[in-house]
Amino acid sequence: MRGKTLGENADAQLSALGAAIGLGPATDEVRALVRELLGGSGNWPLDHPRWPSEVADDHSPLEYSVAFDAQGVPTLRVLVECLAEQPSPRANQQAALAAMARLHSTLPLSLDRFAAVSGEFLPEDPTGPFSVGFSVVARPDSTPVLKVYLNPNARGPMLAPALVAQALDRLGFIGGEQQLRSKMRGLHTMDRYSFFALDLDDRPAARAKVYISHYHATGADVRRAATASREGNAVEVSEFCARAAGTDGPLDGRPLVSAYTFLEGDGATPSGYSLYVPVRDYVSDDTVALDRTLNLARRYGITPDAVRGAVEAVRGRDLAAGPGLIAHLSLRTGPPRPGMTVYLSAEGYGMAQPSTASRVGAA
Ligand code: TRP
Repeated sequence: MRGKTLGENADAQLSALGAAIGLGPATDEVRALVRELLGGSGNWPLDHPRWPSEVADDHSPLEYSVAFDAQGVPTLRVLVECLAEQPSPRANQQAALAAMARLHSTLPLSLDRFAAVSGEFLPEDPTGPFSVGFSVVARPDSTPVLKVYLNPNARGPMLAPALVAQALDRLGFIGGEQQLRSKMRGLHTMDRYSFFALDLDDRPAARAKVYISHYHATGADVRRAATASREGNAVEVSEFCARAAGTDGPLDGRPLVSAYTFLEGDGATPSGYSLYVPVRDYVSDDTVALDRTLNLARRYGITPDAVRGAVEAVRGRDLAAGPGLIAHLSLRTGPPRPGMTVYLSAEGYGMAQPSTASRVGAA
């Protein structure tokens, strides 16, 4: 069921994923939104990537994830980087803003908070691989919502803390960046700001999220990172890390990532904490990654069949052929919705080259 173009492939995988997790009619809405976000790049053939997107290891500009919780209603998310017909950092940034303007007419987007913070993140000459990304977030029986990701390194890494600080302050989370920094091991070296995300809807729980990558980190480091949040479960995230990565670290492959969730009224201290483990760098192949995922599912009261179904829906090859289909596993602790999320690579361009970083715990 593989498509010939980026868009057809995404469409087929989304239909299968939506069916596997019982998304119902919202599946079609997600397919349409992803088509819209891909724009002209949806028609590109899958012979080779036209732009080295960092969304996925094979340079696909999209990645799926399914957020599971003990209540049993999964959420489907699709992370998409908008690519221009003639891609460049600036042209892709413009393509993303144009897509957002188009979607504004079909979705109930609330752009006030985006307008309040985005300027600093959108220089005319953005540094780095991306400046704006989106995720489409869908649950059964409701209209999908959109989340936007900005790049704190868009003006270079040295300015990332200032960009994050200013954005949090403007949203009313005054002093939030200093709070996050107080738990870091080494800003710019061991710990780096990687994404700044906003929900673009106006639900009361609309949130801001700050992502920090931790290089060569251990379970003890993530325990400490979680304590920068109010309700993050520090003990459980380090347990999750050890089980997902198969080791207590240090994790010398791709970095662990912390995400802090700021909800209305949070002030400097975020409510929630999520940990992302790039499991693909810490397994020999996806059979091992799936085993770990299923064991974790049981631990969190998630039906293993739901997880298996999602993996099957996206899989286009033998799991034993190598790692990479299951890209990240994440544990969400504290509000708004605790649970585990499984990130699945589209592998539209095929399996990615293994990371050059040494792999730990490969078994
Ligand atoms: N592929 C990139 C990475 O691994 C970006 C990315 C995609 C990512 N999905 C993610 C990062 C989930 C953290 C969590 O870093």
